[in-house]
Amino acid sequence: MQTRLIKDLETIKKINALVDNEGIVLTLNDALDIIVIKNTNTLYAYRNLCPHLNKPLTNEEKAPLDESQTLLECAHHGAQFLLHNGQCVSGPCLTSHLEPIALAWTGQHYTLHLSDAVFVNNRHQNTNT
Ligand code: FES
Repeated sequence: MQTRLIKDLETIKKINALVDNEGIVLTLNDALDIIVIKNTNTLYAYRNLCPHLNKPLTNEEKAPLDESQTLLECAHHGAQFLLHNGQCVSGPCLTSHLEPIALAWTGQHYTLHLSDAVFVNNRHQNTNT
């Protein structure tokens, strides 16, 4: 398990300003993209990586939502994911999941707890891109 802190005030402000069914993409120091999304007043974080072809769901700063603004949607082939658990409910990777990342507010900064596998997979992906 590895831990990352989000201490940058601008980034904290962006996260705190999210309204329901809105999200942003953040790039951590080690070039790991995560999507932070708010749903029913709860923040969720996922790796910005589609389980279909291991490509980022988006290269934009804004989280990619479908027309109804209630599902995350991959820009490549349209896979759709539930906001609160990352499960794919439509598209070519049906029943698979986005990789969840535990996100917590400490009162001063956000803490991200990432499995070691995330970093192994990220290194692997970065060497293939
Ligand atoms: S890469 Fe995301 S749906 Fe194909």
